[in-house]
Amino acid sequence: MTLLPENEVQLWYFKVDEFLKDVESYANLLSLKETARADSFKFDKDRTVYILARGLLRILSGRYLNKIPKKIKFDYGEYGKPGYKFQNPIAFNISHSGNMIVMAFARNCEIGVDIEKIKDDFDVIDIAHHFFSPDEIQTLKALPEQEQVYGFYRCWTRKESFIKAKGSGLSFPLTSFSVSLDVDYAELLRTDWDSTEKKEWQLFTFTTTKDYLGALSVKGNVESIRQMKWHGS
Ligand code: COA
Ligand code: MG
Repeated sequence: MTLLPENEVQLWYFKVDEFLKDVESYANLLSLKETARADSFKFDKDRTVYILARGLLRILSGRYLNKIPKKIKFDYGEYGKPGYKFQNPIAFNISHSGNMIVMAFARNCEIGVDIEKIKDDFDVIDIAHHFFSPDEIQTLKALPEQEQVYGFYRCWTRKESFIKAKGSGLSFPLTSFSVSLDVDYAELLRTDWDSTEKKEWQLFTFTTTKDYLGALSVKGNVESIRQMKWHGS
């Protein structure tokens, strides 16, 4: 039986502090290039998160692909999006924020994921003006004040997951598309470069633990999102 059925997204999340005692064993799974990148981080926390994310990506990829984790080769898109080097139907994407690492895997699709630790010590409308489209800003402003922080993060993570699925990073104009801010449904509302493209994508908002909000964007047919629990290597 396949570990990753067609039309299913498997979403894994990991709390960094639960893995701290094992960082060095995850570091042993990394390639020379990854080790060099890990060593280039200025802050220990960033180094630790990178090592754990890469180590866990290698372990999970090894299971899905039936390969030895250390031997898996990755390739990078023009703007740094990682994927497998060899032809493969499985796509993945990673995000980390605060104490959380998330990874999403699916077959035969384009996928992007974003997670953010919720903070409320900034002016959401002010930041929204730098990143969101006029229609998104209008929707955000119309929310009751106490809902604006969550509305902001729903919008941010949905947009970020979409540009991550596209793989083009911040070279993608953030005002050329808009997303819904609703609690109950996540969707692309506008894709200026091709007005029909919005119909090809499915967006989802998810929570891991209190204080975090995440989103997924998938081009392909998704019937279920399965949140996966880690039971150790
Ligand atoms: N496309 C998709 N995924 C990418 C990517 C790309 N072009 N480049 C890197 N990634 C993957 C990598 O796995 C990376 O983790 P790693 O370096 O440990 O391997 C991971 O995405 C980082 O994602 P995340 O934790 O969500 O980081 P981020 O939010 O700081 O940045 C970027 C994500 C680099 C892809 C890019 O979108 C960016 O710089 N965003 C800045 C934030 C922003 O302005 N967002 C606007 C929202 S409205
Ligand atoms: Mg992010």
